[in-house]
Amino acid sequence: MKDKKIVVLGTGGTIAGRAQAAYDALGYRAAEVSVEDLLRDVPGLGGQAIASEQVAQVDSKDMDCATWRRLALRCARWLQQDDVAGIVVTHGTDTMEETAYFLQALLAPRKPVVLTGAMRPATSPYADGPRNLADAVCVARAASASGVVVVFSGEIHDPVDVRKVHTYRLDAFGSGEAGPIGYVEEGRIRLKRNWPAALSDGAKPPVDTMAGEAAWPRVEVVLNHAGADGAVVQALVAQGIDGIVVAATGNGSLSQGLEAALLDAQARGVKVVRCTRCAEGVVLGHAADRLPHSTQSPVKARIDLLLSLLAGR
Ligand code: SIN
Repeated sequence: MKDKKIVVLGTGGTIAGRAQAAYDALGYRAAEVSVEDLLRDVPGLGGQAIASEQVAQVDSKDMDCATWRRLALRCARWLQQDDVAGIVVTHGTDTMEETAYFLQALLAPRKPVVLTGAMRPATSPYADGPRNLADAVCVARAASASGVVVVFSGEIHDPVDVRKVHTYRLDAFGSGEAGPIGYVEEGRIRLKRNWPAALSDGAKPPVDTMAGEAAWPRVEVVLNHAGADGAVVQALVAQGIDGIVVAATGNGSLSQGLEAALLDAQARGVKVVRCTRCAEGVVLGHAADRLPHSTQSPVKARIDLLLSLLAGR
């Protein structure tokens, strides 16, 4: 689809990072290089019409609801245009899985929206950004592609399954038991399973109403761990929290103190969702459960809860 354009939306991250010393892969500043400059370094885009826009310039550890809203509205706007084949979003790796899940849950686009980033800054002799960006453009222009995906280190991941699984390696993302949905090899896509489906669980607000949303609901993630006694939950309830996702142990189990505090929070009208802190597997529900569960990871269950609270307003 070379006749249609690809829109590259920059949001920051290590892919846009700059280091003082060329070989410093740790002491650099993320989110410094413009998306336009990043595109200049990408080989093999010849002939592809590209438009770019700097939507944000953040280290993705600081990603927030206002930036998500801005990004979702820009994606929705560009996707409506007939001359746009797909979108690439450059993004920090630390919360990339959250933004990918958020965009798929909210937009479930028919055209591809491809998130990518890098584990080494743009100024590094070992920068992985240019190749990841080239692969992302390759997926964004594929006629068969649809939905939001993460393209990283030659792999294509579904936003439901993908997680950042490594702090340093260039292949920092994995999709656990499910595996990647495909690969990008020498500019060609080898698909193993279907492109992402629309997420069915949970209500979501219409994207155009989000422009008017001032403050988003407050939803926090709390953890069950040895010694967890529920005091954190009580403090959150006292602050007027809207929702709590609990990263429970094993198959959704909770310490007695934490469970009691969460049941009390639920009785006071706080939305509570249990998921597992395990890296693999999902919470399997049981008839005797007193707190609802989600099969998503805690950070993605938090997005479902945020969107359903927004939809309920
Ligand atoms: C970030 O997430 O913005 C910094 C880390 C990275 O992109 O790898």
